Amino acid sequence: MAQLIDGKKISNEIKDELKEEVAELKGKGVSICLAVIQVGDDPASSVYVRNKKRACAYIGIESKAFELPEKTTEEELVTLVEELNRDPSVNGILVQLPLPAHINEDRIIRTISPDKDVDGFHPVSVGRLWIGEKGFLSCTPAGIIQLLKRSGIEIEGKECVVIGRSNIVGKPMAALLLRENGTVTVAHSRTKNLKDVAKRADILIVAIGKKQFITSEYVKNGAVVIDVGMHRDEKNHLCGDVDFNDVEPVASAITPVPGGVGPMTIAMLMNNCVETARMQEE
Ligand code: GUN
Repeated sequence: MAQLIDGKKISNEIKDELKEEVAELKGKGVSICLAVIQVGDDPASSVYVRNKKRACAYIGIESKAFELPEKTTEEELVTLVEELNRDPSVNGILVQLPLPAHINEDRIIRTISPDKDVDGFHPVSVGRLWIGEKGFLSCTPAGIIQLLKRSGIEIEGKECVVIGRSNIVGKPMAALLLRENGTVTVAHSRTKNLKDVAKRADILIVAIGKKQFITSEYVKNGAVVIDVGMHRDEKNHLCGDVDFNDVEPVASAITPVPGGVGPMTIAMLMNNCVETARMQEE
């Protein structure tokens, strides 16, 4: 039986630690405010935004919500972000993605001040990550590092294979594993012999966006398997990129979907918000 890596429990521990830290900061007169911007009313985005606001309330972080209509222009959004950049009462700015097709996402990400970039998507944050400077870390990969560390799984010297090369998960995941002294391979849709590459992994991180794609044929005996995917199966139940029932018997540890990686993303967003106050203190 594989160890089940409980993201819900670990994310709750992190949120409770942050709640205490925020209370201490409040005692010193430091308060934290996150601006959350959503353009349009994509239902999945609305759920994410609601959960982010809820987490802020739990921890003691103020959230300012901006719910803008679908027809908002790129210029209007840029103007709002620039105002929030200048507003000293706002510590962090989050623009929920995806944005409507008529808005250039890259331009919006670059408009957010790197000092308020709690998503860690700005090229300055990405650059800081790769050269090992302090900066905001992309939340999902940072959450995965916490899942591993808090489950007693060592990264140093291990063969780590990341399947997926997105800017939000795959690439920052590779950078973070490297920073933890893992030996890192990034595989993707054009990788030849994906099964052989995946089977090298002591730690296999799966972020390919294909429902239950990874079976036991891709997993070395005793490997740690982290599933970033989120889909619905034929019974409309949530499932991941990994075929859990097939892989669990060969893994030494595995994340479930739901309740694995998902809850960690918001916990790490909250950590980035608290980081803005820690930086102020320094
Ligand atoms: N859409 C899906 N995931 C994310 C995320 O982590 N941050 C933002 N801003 N948008 C998202």
